[in-house]
Amino acid sequence: MNNFTGVLQEWYQKNKRDLPWRNTKQAYEIWLSEIILQQTQVVQGLSYYYKFIAAYPNVNVLASSSQEHVLKNWQGLGYYSRARNLHFAAKQIVESYGGVFPSTYTKIKALKGVGDYTAAAIASFAFNEPYAVVDGNVYRVLSRLFAIKTPINSTKGKKEFAELAQSIIDYKNPGSHNQAMMELGALICRPQKPQCEICPLQFNCEANKLETTADFPVKLNKVKIKKRYLNYVIISDGKHILVNQRKGKGIWQGLYDFPLIESKKEVNLVDCIDEITIKGATFDMALKHILTHQHLYVKFWIANVASFKGFEQYTVININDLEDLPLPQLIVRYIEQSSFFKR
Ligand code: ADE
Ligand code: SF4
Repeated sequence: MNNFTGVLQEWYQKNKRDLPWRNTKQAYEIWLSEIILQQTQVVQGLSYYYKFIAAYPNVNVLASSSQEHVLKNWQGLGYYSRARNLHFAAKQIVESYGGVFPSTYTKIKALKGVGDYTAAAIASFAFNEPYAVVDGNVYRVLSRLFAIKTPINSTKGKKEFAELAQSIIDYKNPGSHNQAMMELGALICRPQKPQCEICPLQFNCEANKLETTADFPVKLNKVKIKKRYLNYVIISDGKHILVNQRKGKGIWQGLYDFPLIESKKEVNLVDCIDEITIKGATFDMALKHILTHQHLYVKFWIANVASFKGFEQYTVININDLEDLPLPQLIVRYIEQSSFFKR
């Protein structure tokens, strides 16, 4: 590949988007941006990035905040383990490195929530360490450039693409090389209708030559979507309601929802009352909520009670304080739409 990296980086310098995390060498800020952007589009991630930089200007502030505070600021971004790990890693940095962000790939990768991609991104962007990043963009660009049919989500594929990415890195400018590969994937070598006619690598690209760009990247079949049926009961004495802080390993760990009954299939009111032994619960609303690997079919019921006796496993809060808690987006949608909360 003659002058591959030169052409690529020249294109990048001319065409890159002006994004705030590209104007800093602070590892802390780069780390924050990369965690936010892991499963999030740039347009959606931007406002969260600004919010987090404002709320937690450095790692010490982040480490000394409460997890609930961090989850509240993360509300709406999804994949809440990212927020919990971010907070945990901030404490690691304070405890192990006195609040100074570690500057080598190995130490960075040892932080909670930091995998190969994020460690390579931080090490190369902030410290110019020559580690190649491989994200969805890079998989797509490389698979097309070299017409590689190995599935990108197979064990073999991950290894093959990681080695290939590393073999073409620019040791002089690993940071801008990595950014350039990703930016090419985001702007030109897009999933649908890549713009090969204006691509700086069009003459080096196998898939373009063979006109087979639509065949790449190859992916193994995804895990199939799981359907779940959730029944939430709003238990209220008129001023207060019961909430439940999610424990265990689930996606909403640490967030708050309501007393919940999950069923194998759709249930009706009668089954529901039976299980939680609340008389006179009334149906309020049904919502369908779509997550990456799950479709949630959710019903909300309202039960007015005179006292909260027998519900000691839940937390009693004032209804008006509900919105101060970190909540799953599903619950936010419900609160916005239900007449129960418009009083
Ligand atoms: N997605 C993930 N990391 C990114 C970055 N540094 N710039 C733009 N998009 C990204
Ligand atoms: Fe992607 Fe087309 Fe460029 Fe090849 S020529 S890298 S397929 S945009």
